[in-house]
Amino acid sequence: MQTVEIMEKTFDSESNDIALYLAMSRKAEYEGHPEIASYLLNVAMDEARHAAEFATLLGKVKDTRTNLVNMLASEVKAEKDKGKAAKIAFAEGHDEAFQFFEKSMHDERRHKEGIKKVLSKLGKGLNQQ
Ligand SMILES: [Fe+2]
Ligand SMILES: [Fe+2]
Repeated sequence: MQTVEIMEKTFDSESNDIALYLAMSRKAEYEGHPEIASYLLNVAMDEARHAAEFATLLGKVKDTRTNLVNMLASEVKAEKDKGKAAKIAFAEGHDEAFQFFEKSMHDERRHKEGIKKVLSKLGKGLNQQ
């Protein structure tokens, strides 16, 4: 049981590190350090592989149809949550946060629509929104 808890925490921490390394890679690129940017991007991909392996070990990855159905639900929620967050950020005057919540809300919508398309290609009924 302790191992599972540690793996869950490790999955979260690896997932966090992916985003941080990607953001830091972009920063290094912006600052004119392409080799460091490339190195940080490679580390981000390593962390992604680590996170993916723990996701698998933790049973978060099912058959493809189930995975798509689960992620569709997640994208639907993400789109709604981003919309709510955008309103809060706007009301609080966080313009950059507002803009990015809006942009990422559109990305989540695109993910949702893309997953629906892929699911329909798999055939059979699609009961989710
Ligand atoms: Fe790692
Ligand atoms: Fe998404």
